Amino acid sequence: MVNPAAVYRALHDLNSYLPKRFFDGWARPPLRVAFILTHLCNLRCTMCNTWGKENPKEIPKQLTAREIAHIIKQLPRYALLTFTGGEIYLRKDFREILTYACSRNRVHLVTNGTTVGPDDADEILDLSASNMLTKGIVSVGVSLDGLKESHDQVRGVPGAFEKSVAFLRSLVEKKRDRGGRYPIIDIKVVITPETVEVLPDLFKLGDEVGVDLVSCQILNTQSSSYGVKHEEKEVHRQSPPPVPEIAPAVIRGSLEAMESLAAGSVTQLRFNPNAGIEAIVDHYQNRLRLAEFDCTTVWSVMHVGPHGDVFPCYSYSMGNLKEKSVKEVWNGDKYRAFRKELKSAGVFPGCVGCCVMKPKSSRRPSAAKAG
Ligand SMILES: C[S@@+](CC[C@H](N)C(=O)[O-])C[C@H]1O[C@@H](n2cnc3c(N)ncnc32)[C@H](O)[C@@H]1O
Ligand code: SF4
Ligand code: SF4
Repeated sequence: MVNPAAVYRALHDLNSYLPKRFFDGWARPPLRVAFILTHLCNLRCTMCNTWGKENPKEIPKQLTAREIAHIIKQLPRYALLTFTGGEIYLRKDFREILTYACSRNRVHLVTNGTTVGPDDADEILDLSASNMLTKGIVSVGVSLDGLKESHDQVRGVPGAFEKSVAFLRSLVEKKRDRGGRYPIIDIKVVITPETVEVLPDLFKLGDEVGVDLVSCQILNTQSSSYGVKHEEKEVHRQSPPPVPEIAPAVIRGSLEAMESLAAGSVTQLRFNPNAGIEAIVDHYQNRLRLAEFDCTTVWSVMHVGPHGDVFPCYSYSMGNLKEKSVKEVWNGDKYRAFRKELKSAGVFPGCVGCCVMKPKSSRRPSAAKAG
């Protein structure tokens, strides 16, 4: 059976490779556009730099549903649109945004799943794509960072776990009833000292609930990701603060246990970055070897912040879509200069913690094993 993630990765490489190699910072139209619709959130996750960062006075500056539709119209119909935040369902006009996006493009949602219920699950199923090439919702990620109390502790709000799991179950059941392959339902977990030992149990939970995928991403300590601070200084040139260390034997043991569980299950497992367990072990010793990584994302993926600023990844604004067109920003002088600098650097010191870094060769980066 065709693996949608593998197809997307192949298209991404095709879209990025030739422009990166032969053109002067120029890029083909984006293959994926991630809209950070709001920085508002009902949860208070310990690892997240988003909540509390939205100045309430600035909420009226958020892109309206109409402005978002205007941006979407400028994008290719084949572009995958991600809606994330903050918490997307806190926007009162989210359904309007979602319905328009699904009438034109493929859509991916990321939610904490605590403010939604069976009606929202029905709506997602109504708007889901019938196959990987057609418009509609192709995937939904729901974040879980532990089991019961441990999840609620990381997420800062009692009762969050029960709500997120209830939403996941309702989504999975409704998808089963309707019989389609889409949307792909994904549990998203961030590897931290608080989650590391519970990772295999989270995989078992995903398997029991019947999700398609459990994806684990590394902790990013970059304070300016997700358009949180609108930095004009070049944050990518500085290393982010160190991550809290996790003993190699502990993290390796947990990730290997997940791999063993996944080998006997229909639920898939993905580590982001997709660079092998040893790269993740290295990350948690603060010794990731950046020279072994590369980036093509900036040639194919665009991030749009709540107020219309466009970011390659960091909160280093390339221009604002209230003032300029997608074309003007995407291949504008600032974006092209950023891509040229990235091409000669490989990756930047600030890339530590990025979950889309690519290992340079087909050989997966290895760590000097310790502990
Ligand atoms: C910022 S949240 C926004 C969507 C939604 N509120 C949620 O929690 O799923 C998107 C994803 O980023 C993850 N995340 C939050 N802080 C992170 C960090 N410091 N490093 C890596 N991932 C992080 C969340 O767990 C979530 O899976
Ligand atoms: S990770 Fe998601 S749910 Fe948690 S505080 Fe950040 S935006 Fe909110
Ligand atoms: S590897 Fe670096 S430049 Fe590329 S997307 Fe990640 S943070 Fe941005």
